[in-house]
Amino acid sequence: MFGRESFFQFIVIIVALIFPLQEARRILLSPVHNVLDYGAVGDDLHDDTEAILEAWKATCEGSFFASTMVIPPGKTFYVNPLTFKGPCKSSYINVEINGQIVAPKHPTQWRCYNNCETWIEFQGVNGISIHGKGTVDGRGQIWWDLQIKRPTAFKISDSSNVHLSGLHFLNNPRMHVVLDGLQSANVEDLHIHSPEKSPNTDGIHVAHCKYVSIAHSTIRTGDDCISIVDGASHVQVNNIMCGPGHGISIGSLGKNGAQDRVEYIHVNDVIFNRSTNGARIKTWQGGRGYAKHITFERISVIDTDNPIIVNQFYCDHEICSNQENAVKVSNVTYRHVVGTSKGKTAVTLDCSTTVPCEVFMEDIHIRSSKEGESVKSFCTSAHGWVKGTNVPQVSCLEQDRG
Ligand SMILES: *[C@@H]1O[C@H](CO)[C@@H](O)[C@H](O)[C@H]1NC(C)=O
Ligand SMILES: *[C@@H]1O[C@H](CO)[C@@H](O)[C@H](O)[C@H]1NC(C)=O
Repeated sequence: MFGRESFFQFIVIIVALIFPLQEARRILLSPVHNVLDYGAVGDDLHDDTEAILEAWKATCEGSFFASTMVIPPGKTFYVNPLTFKGPCKSSYINVEINGQIVAPKHPTQWRCYNNCETWIEFQGVNGISIHGKGTVDGRGQIWWDLQIKRPTAFKISDSSNVHLSGLHFLNNPRMHVVLDGLQSANVEDLHIHSPEKSPNTDGIHVAHCKYVSIAHSTIRTGDDCISIVDGASHVQVNNIMCGPGHGISIGSLGKNGAQDRVEYIHVNDVIFNRSTNGARIKTWQGGRGYAKHITFERISVIDTDNPIIVNQFYCDHEICSNQENAVKVSNVTYRHVVGTSKGKTAVTLDCSTTVPCEVFMEDIHIRSSKEGESVKSFCTSAHGWVKGTNVPQVSCLEQDRG
């Protein structure tokens, strides 16, 4: 009479009616799959990759309304590259990480050595919440000195309704967290830390994502704290501590003539502390597409090299040739940016001469972090307006008298 599915739906409705929300969640979030029950040891010696994958299989294939995989606290799980693949039978997947996850100690011990793309990936899982106080430590130190392909540490791809919170990411070989191809994602309370000199260790990298929120996180790293690239739209970033690091960047966009599109990005309530850039947009010459409807507001800068910078001549190697095409940068607003600049040029709008950019500014008050020095702005090929008094003044924008 009752199918298995409708039976569970029935149970869910009854539980939801009888119990308060928290309690209902707890009941419905069973069953729980602890990786220790699947043979993981957690002593930092055994390779726990296969055991954890077994626990994932059980979690993903359970036909309950929701199911949970637990990586318990007080243990260190040595893990080689692995992919947690969906789709799953359960509508909601919980991954509780309270233990430490560590990579093999030396790059040569990685199974994919010399060809590693990603260390830990969640792929194609809709309705997933990954949370806990655990640490993801890629032991990147040795990687940084080697001239080989370095892997991204933690990637969530091709999924919807994603929640990621609480975790610590430490010393990963390359990017710490990559969000790629997500629809509706909520990221908060992350603690990301690697040395100022570690190469390409972006904190959070967002590509091909719609409706993403990134909030309440501390990021200290060797590259961008957050980078937002092609296919990102409706991305909200707020309450971030960034620095050391290269700032919060839209881009780079348009590399090798690429047609990149980024729109509706809102960054607010961010502190840049001794970062090399603050609020940045960077595009390569020769690209196409656009970066538009972007707002940075309520930004504090402390001893930051380039607090505000739009750079359409981005080039990370020695020589880039001049090209006509450019990613079109428009409807970019900087509002309430205050603090101190380490560099002399606090505001840089270095826009394409063929495709000028459109920028609005309001309430910019940046002084030099060096006593007795003043700051200036630099601008080429930008138009738009400024409102109120701004320090430094930005001469290529019109004063708005409205
Ligand atoms: C900025 O960083 C310095 C040193 O890293 C630290 O002492 C200071 O508290 C930070 N400032 C803020 C506002 O967090
Ligand atoms: C400019 O961007 C903002 C969002 O940052 C948006 O609300 C506004 O509609 C855009 N203006 C135009 C003219 O598209």
